[in-house]
Amino acid sequence: MRASSSLAVSLLGAASKPVAAMFYYPSPAVSELEHILTDNWGAYASNFSTAITPCDNYVTEVGEPAINSRRTTSAQWLRVAFHDFATADVAAGTGGVDASIGFETARDENSGTAFNDSFTFWQPFVNEFVPMADLLAIGTVMSVHLCGGKYIPYSPGRVDATVEGTFGVPEPSTSLEETLAQFEQTGFNQSDAIALTACGHTIGSVHAGGFPEVLEQDHITPNNTNGAVNLDSTRAVFDQAVVHEYIDWTGQKGGPLVTSFNESSRSDLRLYESDGNKTMMDLYASGDGFQDTCVGLLQRMLNTVPSGVELQPAISPALIKPINVTWDVTAEQQLVLSGKIRMLHTGEIPSDPVSVTFSNGYTESLVPEEGLGTSAFKLTDAQTNATTQYFAFSIPGSNLSGSTSFTVAAEGFEAQDFEIQDAAFILPSLSSVDVTAGTVSITLAARSDASDFDPSQLSIEVATPVLQPLTLTPKIVRTAVQLAEVESPVTGIGYWSGSAAIEPPTGAVSVTLLSSGKVIDTLLLDAGVAGW
Ligand code: HEM
Ligand SMILES: *[C@@H]1O[C@H](CO)[C@@H](O)[C@H](O)[C@H]1NC(C)=O
Ligand SMILES: *[C@@H]1O[C@H](CO)[C@@H](O)[C@H](O)[C@H]1NC(C)=O
Ligand SMILES: *[C@@H]1O[C@H](CO)[C@@H](O)[C@H](O)[C@H]1NC(C)=O
Ligand SMILES: *[C@@H]1O[C@H](CO)[C@@H](O)[C@H](O)[C@H]1NC(C)=O
Ligand SMILES: *[C@@H]1O[C@H](CO)[C@@H](O)[C@H](O)[C@H]1NC(C)=O
Ligand SMILES: *[C@@H]1O[C@H](CO)[C@@H](O)[C@H](O)[C@H]1NC(C)=O
Ligand SMILES: *[C@@H]1O[C@H](CO)[C@@H](O)[C@H](O)[C@H]1NC(C)=O
Ligand SMILES: *[C@@H]1O[C@H](CO)[C@@H](O)[C@H](O)[C@H]1NC(C)=O
Ligand SMILES: *[C@@H]1O[C@H](CO)[C@@H](O)[C@H](O)[C@H]1NC(C)=O
Repeated sequence: MRASSSLAVSLLGAASKPVAAMFYYPSPAVSELEHILTDNWGAYASNFSTAITPCDNYVTEVGEPAINSRRTTSAQWLRVAFHDFATADVAAGTGGVDASIGFETARDENSGTAFNDSFTFWQPFVNEFVPMADLLAIGTVMSVHLCGGKYIPYSPGRVDATVEGTFGVPEPSTSLEETLAQFEQTGFNQSDAIALTACGHTIGSVHAGGFPEVLEQDHITPNNTNGAVNLDSTRAVFDQAVVHEYIDWTGQKGGPLVTSFNESSRSDLRLYESDGNKTMMDLYASGDGFQDTCVGLLQRMLNTVPSGVELQPAISPALIKPINVTWDVTAEQQLVLSGKIRMLHTGEIPSDPVSVTFSNGYTESLVPEEGLGTSAFKLTDAQTNATTQYFAFSIPGSNLSGSTSFTVAAEGFEAQDFEIQDAAFILPSLSSVDVTAGTVSITLAARSDASDFDPSQLSIEVATPVLQPLTLTPKIVRTAVQLAEVESPVTGIGYWSGSAAIEPPTGAVSVTLLSSGKVIDTLLLDAGVAGW
């Protein structure tokens, strides 16, 4: 194919389009989820934490309606995770955290708006690498950690269900025997069930609107439009208050599921009393141990997955993290590697330089950006927030010839190496999604001067998250893109281009470049509000 003038036009047209980078460390999934865990506030904060900042925020509405709704997004996320998990049958190896709850919102046992509220917020974050079920689990990690509790080690790797699961979430009217049997099936014995429920019912409310069998309708007022009655006196703090108020019979006295006017709706009272209050008294006496008990039980809950699903090692915050590192060709036809280095500091912000040194010897000392970010991640036992600092770089390819990696070094940090390659790569400025036309267009560059590299073995696959019926969880549709050589403006580099039809994406479209079947480059396009 001959070069066309339309290529030059699209170069200018596409250059301003925001795209995420192609080198993800250590992998796209871990890089994206680490962003949610670590970048909580300030510069480049993940839009995920925003939903639960402050912790009594209700993200589904804004302004007065949100305040008067007395709904709590952080609490909704925790309840959604419990309901998704609650139908697990560990002996059979079915159910658990798999986002099947998205198909089950019409069931009586899943009464309330929490499920679709949460899925609506999470939907734009779903892509080929990040399933809804991992977001559902990270939601609980974030709610607990940012709202007063401790950090629950977070392992990714869940798999989204494609159909609804079995029934079996305990309801306020469910008998004690049935409730204990349901918990037993999930692998939680009586004391586990009591403690897990106390851990869950330390934030949020019961809403009279959705639960008339628990609460009188006169709780519904103009400034409490759903008739919320809080489970404890600290609705948006993950603390021990629910246990204290139950045992001491103060404040909310354990909440509406203890004190309901309707005796058959006092499910928490039945459960807490079922061992003569022993577990609740133990929790009462355990002081801060309550938090550790909750971490253990909630981690077990989140890690209950169908047999065959293998979770990955827990994600840790990266002290040094390259972000949006990508090769591209500028409007001046210059090959450039650009990106940012995020440094995570536990104490004072040092003034020491950060250097990047490439494997060909080229080195640069980077200048920090002004904006700082705040991370709730406690790397040690530090009681303070950590701070993130960003260092941008943009280096001509001519300086980097032959480089296969770069090393980031700074005083007080262990230097780290990160691999790069430039045999072939997707060109961000020449790749885009056109939602109106329903197409994705990709241009890749490949070395035409490397003897050990065969451009004819390159292929492109696109994965698009799209709506599916009956759930707000997108499904991932994979599409191959046929490539044809086009004229390249850069000596020694060939361009290949192609496009394919896709359905309207709900989140980032991922483009994968393979060489002889092996993935050598990945690019996320149009991440939208998720901002990956
Ligand atoms: C016997 C077991 C349980 C029953 C019968 C039960 C029942 C309920 C009910 C009826 C509500 C009110 C929902 C609303 O009005 O929006 C509620 C709220 C809640 N539940 Fe449970 N629950 C149980 C166990 C758990 C567990 C084990 C967890 C988590 C580990 C949990 C987490 C929550 C949370 C966070 C809320 C507040 C939701 C909000 O404010 O939107 N529950 N529960
Ligand atoms: C990385 O790129 C995305 C998409 O353009 C952008 O939203 C994000 O702010 C960038 N991150 C950094 C640290 O520059
Ligand atoms: C319940 O299970 C926990 C661990 O999951 C265990 O420590 C405890 O002893 C068990 N309790 C009973 C009564 O079996
Ligand atoms: C009490 O709860 C039961 C079980 O949910 C329900 O059938 C009954 O209608 C409720 N009673 C009142 C007065 O709401
Ligand atoms: C909410 O409205 C009630 C009357 O409906 C009023 O007594 C109460 O003070 C109001 N509370 C707040 C926090 O505005
Ligand atoms: C359990 O504790 C509750 C709340 O303090 C109390 O009302 C109830 O009588 C106790 N039950 C038993 C069996 O001790
Ligand atoms: C961490 O930062 C958040 C947001 O700025 C703030 O609300 C919180 O109090 C800080 N926590 C600590 C321990 O400094
Ligand atoms: C880096 O590349 C630029 C532009 O090609 C060149 O002017 C400069 O001398 C190079 N610097 C080093 C240290 O190689
Ligand atoms: C939740 O969303 C799904 C998918 O759009 C829809 O089928 C379902 O009816 C919704 N559930 C509720 C309770 O609104
Ligand atoms: C975060 O969400 C807000 C509002 O939805 C949006 O304006 C902003 O661009 C988003 N941030 C990123 C990084 O996408």
